[in-house]
Amino acid sequence: MSLQSESIEAVGIDNFSPYYNVDMKRSHIRSIGLQSQVIDVDICDSRALHELFKDFQPTHVIHLAAQGGVRASKTDPIPYLMSNQTGFLNVLSASENFGCAKFLYASSSSVYGDLSEAPFQESQTLSAPKSLYALSKLSNELIAKHLPSKDTERIGFRFFTVYGPWGRPDMAVFRLLASSLLGEKFKLTANKDVIRDFTYVKDVSNILIAALSTQTMVSESNILNISAGNPFTLNELFQILEELEIHIEIEETSADPLDVKMTHGSVAKLQESALPVPLTHLRDGIRETWKWMNGIEKDQLRAWFEYSS
Ligand SMILES: NC(=O)c1ccc[n+]([C@@H]2O[C@H](COP(=O)([O-])OP(=O)(O)OC[C@H]3O[C@@H](n4cnc5c(N)ncnc54)[C@H](O)[C@@H]3O)[C@@H](O)[C@H]2O)c1
Repeated sequence: MSLQSESIEAVGIDNFSPYYNVDMKRSHIRSIGLQSQVIDVDICDSRALHELFKDFQPTHVIHLAAQGGVRASKTDPIPYLMSNQTGFLNVLSASENFGCAKFLYASSSSVYGDLSEAPFQESQTLSAPKSLYALSKLSNELIAKHLPSKDTERIGFRFFTVYGPWGRPDMAVFRLLASSLLGEKFKLTANKDVIRDFTYVKDVSNILIAALSTQTMVSESNILNISAGNPFTLNELFQILEELEIHIEIEETSADPLDVKMTHGSVAKLQESALPVPLTHLRDGIRETWKWMNGIEKDQLRAWFEYSS
């Protein structure tokens, strides 16, 4: 399922932030033929956003733009405060002002911190984000809950370690596969027993697209996990890579204290909501991602990889 295959008319907004290689972002857009539909706008610019909403008159908004990554929030906190908070508020306010029916936004499994009991449930009380990134996502949920609402339904989706073709080049799956293809060592900055609920990107987009037209949501808080509900340790991920004959030389470095030890999302609320539940097994998702990466020209892949090293 895609916006194109569902014949949903859409415009995309991105400020092409240099957090990772901008050529990768543009190549992605070109690969799906959407150059003319993605507009260079910064969500922190409320006036530009207002003009865009006035011109396009959207009925639904999927808000994904954000400064991602946990580690950079330690050294460069400004984008987390600007894009993830001011920007979030601007997009939500514009959606309200223009009477959009729905505002769907990306939150993160990082809001659960290290104190939550697995599998993480949306109803758990959260008070201990471990990074400024996690705090910015938790604050989005609070803004969405408390900012007075007119007609716009707000639904926050807590994404769990999304991977797949065109996945972020600072994330483990991309870096593992690219290290193998480029003959580089993979720098491991986590313990091998860290647990992640890896979720395939196509499963995530299917849920978001289905949520555009789903009439009723059961979650009282209007927050839903998007997770496979089937977590793996990094060691198990390495085994899967070996089974797929993707060989990697691993260089162990010290673990980053900002990383949470485990993510494992409950899928119960998602099941009740009648939205599709992620079903792609990690092995199949990795195989697809590997296939995609093998189709990328090596010099280009190396540039994307090295930019985020
Ligand atoms: N990838 C994951 O595992 C994961 C997990 C949890 C949550 N999320 C959330 O999902 C969303 C998408 O994440 P992603 O991994 O695809 O990241 P991404 O960096 O690939 O996509 C985010 C996009 O937002 C754009 N952006 C940043 N600041 C902006 C601004 N001020 N104005 C306009 N555009 C701006 C960036 O240029 C980037 O292209 C984010 O909200 C992220 O926090 C992702």
